[in-house]
Parts: sequence; structure tokens; C-alpha cells
Amino acid sequence: MTVGIGIVGAGFMSRTYAYGIRELVRGARCVAVTGGSRAPALAADFGLVLEPSLDAMLARDDVDVVLLGSPTQVHHEQTLAAARTGRHVFTEKPIAATLPEIDAMIRATREARVLLWVNAVSRWRRGVRMAKELVDSGEIGEIRMVRHTYAFPATGYADPDHWSNQPGAGSPFLDQGAHCNDLIRWSVGADAVTAYARYANYTQTVPDGQSAMIPTPSRTG
Ligand SMILES: NC(=O)c1ccc[n+]([C@@H]2O[C@H](COP(=O)([O-])OP(=O)(O)OC[C@H]3O[C@@H](n4cnc5c(N)ncnc54)[C@H](OP(=O)(O)O)[C@@H]3O)[C@@H](O)[C@H]2O)c1
Repeated sequence: MTVGIGIVGAGFMSRTYAYGIRELVRGARCVAVTGGSRAPALAADFGLVLEPSLDAMLARDDVDVVLLGSPTQVHHEQTLAAARTGRHVFTEKPIAATLPEIDAMIRATREARVLLWVNAVSRWRRGVRMAKELVDSGEIGEIRMVRHTYAFPATGYADPDHWSNQPGAGSPFLDQGAHCNDLIRWSVGADAVTAYARYANYTQTVPDGQSAMIPTPSRTG
């Protein structure tokens, strides 16, 4: 059986998926794309059907999985729509910007008995995998503190009109912090008890949300 994938959004990540699935994945293929001004070009470049809307994509009988490469603020509603039609969902991180939205996405996909998966791309980086191997082998010993340093060339994200700076997207901090949080929890195999973070922007333009203080109460008191 070949799993049919419908891509939502046609930007950086959607194009990365279209290429990666075509070149590397056996047993699955991208069949259609919808969403965004770049969708016609993505469809043409990868031989996909260009659908005018998510509803039109969900009406297809060759789409088993909906792959969300769309802006974070629409992951919630698009996941609910996909679940309503019995489609599995693979979404980009962050899954959504608020816990109520995330809970609703988990509930909807569970009730529909479909899978919901969030991309965890950073787990495939070589240095990260080496660190996890050291943790898993016991070479490091008991983990009491993790320091994760992360730098991101926020070229498009520095534009105040970029989707990541719009209401509902969370913030650029959420957008990139999702990687850090995932890596810490995955490499150590535990949730944080206490967290402290510093976050800085080194570009000339500083839209809202590009600086943050993260006070997290200690669960040990
Ligand atoms: N895992 C990673 O390393 C990684 C890296 C980058 C981004 N991401 C995540 O991936 C998602 C997309 O980011 P990106 O960098 O690919 O952004 P992007 O390049 O701006 O692509 C977003 C695409 O979605 C389209 N779009 C806008 N509103 C839409 C809607 N309501 N429904 C469907 N499509 C819509 C855009 O249309 P236009 O073509 O008209 O702009 C664009 O084609 C975000 O959640 C982001 O956090 C993850």
C-alpha cells in the first residue's frame, strides 16, 4: 500500500517535505497541495494536484495523511478538519500556540482514531544523537542539569509582518524554543523540574515577542 500525503502550505517546510518524501521515503507519496501563493509552483515542481482549499483536499480519496507545513496559528483548525474526515495528521512544530488548542487537537485525533505526530527534526542532528547516546549508555551518569544553547538566523522572522509575529502564532521564542524543549526532554528522557532561559535578538529590527524572560517555578519547591 502507498500512503497518500496531502501537503498544506507551500513554503520552506512544505517544499522540504515534498523533496524529502520524493527522494527518500518508500511506501508514501505526496499527491496534492493546498494553501498559499507558492502552492502552484510547488505543485508544478513535484507533480502534485493543486487543490483550491483544505476542504477540497479532504474530499480526495487518495489522501491518507495531511501534512501541515502551514503557519503555526492554523495548525489547530486544520488538524480538527483533517480529523473530522478521518485523516492522519503530521504537523510541523510547534504543534500550536496554546495548551487548549493542543489538547483539542489531541482529543479530536484520538476520538477519530487517527494518528497525530509532530515533527521532531532536531532529533536527527548528529551532535544531538551523540549526546543522547552518551546519556543512554550511562557514560554521563545521572543527569541533573542540561544547558542547551541555540542560535537561529531569523532572517524572515525579523519582519514584523511575518506570520510568526502575528497574533495566534505564539512568538518567535515559541517557534524556536519548541526545538530546545523537545531536545532536552528527548535526550534526557524526563521533564524539567526547574527551567531558566535567556533569549536575545541580535538583529536591528526587534518585533514584539523577540525577547523573553522565562520564570518557571521549581516543582521541588
Ligand atoms: N522543523 C523545522 O526545523 C522548521 C523549520 C521552519 C519552520 N517550521 C515550522 O513549519 C511551519 C511553516 O513554516 P515555514 O518556515 O515553512 O513558513 P513559510 O515558508 O512561510 O510557509 C508557510 C506556507 O503556508 C502558507 N499559508 C499561509 N496561510 C495559510 C493557511 N491559512 N493555510 C494553508 N497555508 C497557508 C504560506 O502561503 P504563502 O506561500 O502565500 O506565503 C506558505 O506557503 C511553522 O509551523 C514553523 O514553525 C519548522
